[in-house]
Amino acid sequence: MTTYFDQAAANWDDKPARIELLTAVAETIFRQVQPTSYMDVLDYGCGTGLISFFLAPHVATVTAADSSEGMLDVLRRKIDQSGLRTIRPVLLDLERDAAPDARYDLIVAHMVMHHVADTACMLRNFHALLWPGGTLCISDLDTEPGVFHDPQAIGTVHHHGFDRQELRGLMEQAGFGDLQDTTAHVVRKPVADGGLRDFPVFLMTGRR
Ligand SMILES: C[S@@+](CC[C@H](N)C(=O)[O-])C[C@H]1O[C@@H](n2cnc3c(N)ncnc32)[C@H](O)[C@@H]1O
Repeated sequence: MTTYFDQAAANWDDKPARIELLTAVAETIFRQVQPTSYMDVLDYGCGTGLISFFLAPHVATVTAADSSEGMLDVLRRKIDQSGLRTIRPVLLDLERDAAPDARYDLIVAHMVMHHVADTACMLRNFHALLWPGGTLCISDLDTEPGVFHDPQAIGTVHHHGFDRQELRGLMEQAGFGDLQDTTAHVVRKPVADGGLRDFPVFLMTGRR
């Protein structure tokens, strides 16, 4: 079955606002986590690998995981064109599939958690996939009134952003400590009533 993300993949990288957001989040990750050349990274919900390509030159490997074959096809073409062989695309949906037998120093989940039904379960998966001392970075929308996505186009979105305090609580329950959050960027875009609305995007980090 072809999904919204399979169809959106071909033009995913063409939206300047998406690149602006990703750049702001990636720069915030660099400030908060300081990725280093020994790190194995999991970019979960990687899409076309925008975050993966940002991180790859600075770390050992990036496993770029997504549940959309269409997104991964675009990513594979970008890897072929760039020759950057340290990015490894993987079809993975931790809501459905068994977790891989691998451990990471850093997991990044950028704008994917609002598409995941069971946040607590996904956080437990991430915790198990990190080495002790490893870091989880989640970037996502602050709670919004359900106007960020066009429901006609995308279908069900499980969370209209997140309340940071609630997410912190879930991260603590999953075993994460040293929790920090900051506003990485504010997306300004038109909404259905014709006006412009600001959507803050946070970066929350926690250590296993
Ligand atoms: C809003 S896009 C963000 C993509 C990418 N991180 C970026 O910022 O360009 C959400 C991505 O998460 C993927 N996704 C949604 N649910 C997923 C799941 N349960 N497991 C893995 N990937 C998922 C989608 O296929 C899509 O590529």
